[in-house]
Amino acid sequence: MNAGALPIIRVQNLEKVYPGNVHAVRGVSFEVRPKQVVAIIGSSGSGKSTVLRCINRLIEPTEGEIYLEEVKINDSKTDINKIRSEIGMVFQSFELFAHLRVLENVTLGLRKVRGYSRAEANEIARGVLEKVDMLDKLEAFPGQISGGQMQRVAIARALAMNPKVMLFDEPTSALDPELIGSVLESIKALVNEGMTMIIVTHEIGFAREVSDWILYMDHGAVVEEGPPSMLDAPKTERMQQFLGQILDG
Ligand SMILES: Nc1ncnc2c1ncn2[C@@H]1O[C@H](COP(=O)(O)OP(=O)(O)OP(=O)(O)O)[C@@H](O)[C@H]1O
Ligand SMILES: [Mg+2]
Repeated sequence: MNAGALPIIRVQNLEKVYPGNVHAVRGVSFEVRPKQVVAIIGSSGSGKSTVLRCINRLIEPTEGEIYLEEVKINDSKTDINKIRSEIGMVFQSFELFAHLRVLENVTLGLRKVRGYSRAEANEIARGVLEKVDMLDKLEAFPGQISGGQMQRVAIARALAMNPKVMLFDEPTSALDPELIGSVLESIKALVNEGMTMIIVTHEIGFAREVSDWILYMDHGAVVEEGPPSMLDAPKTERMQQFLGQILDG
């Protein structure tokens, strides 16, 4: 691992209090080094999505600092659109543009944000759609493909922007069981290419397989963290219970 390299993402003492005094994230710190895969696990409401949403500033942290390499993300002087274009995000729900075909969903950002010509954007888009095995659906609308296929297009769309890091927020949890595998395969292919990522997931087996480091969150805090082998020996009763529920379910 690149132990000496500057972290791609550095989160320091992150706190998030939502209106209504909901203290969703409590003093979370971690870093993600180049090519590292960090998984965040934890029960519903533990603050996992809030952490991801603070990282690309979909929401403002209440306290703490987040850096993308040397740039402080939560600083009023930072160009947030530039930061967002360098951080790929894939959500649980399928967030494609329903009125645009698969190819156009991927080329839109390339043309509007990156300024590529239509021909250049098409070429890049075909390249990333090939990686997620979606070349045969270029002209389909999102409503004409499966949830798993939509999610793979969403991955391709994020990938097309050549992000420094990809954030995945439970990318398979809204999918029918038979569609999960192909999405996990696409993510795994990115891991093998050395993509840096943070992945929030309930797929414990997948987290164990692809991640270098796992954070277990509960009630807004990181309660345990470590390499995937930590899953075999949870120290706290909370994590034991969590793993027990997940593995039974
Ligand atoms: N916009 C909001 N306003 C107020 N409270 C919120 C908001 N979004 C989330 N919360 C609360 O913050 C806490 C953490 O939510 P978050 O969505 O980060 O959890 P999560 O770990 O991603 O859960 P899940 O596994 O269900 O997706 C929860 O108590 C949630 O109800
Ligand atoms: Mg969530």
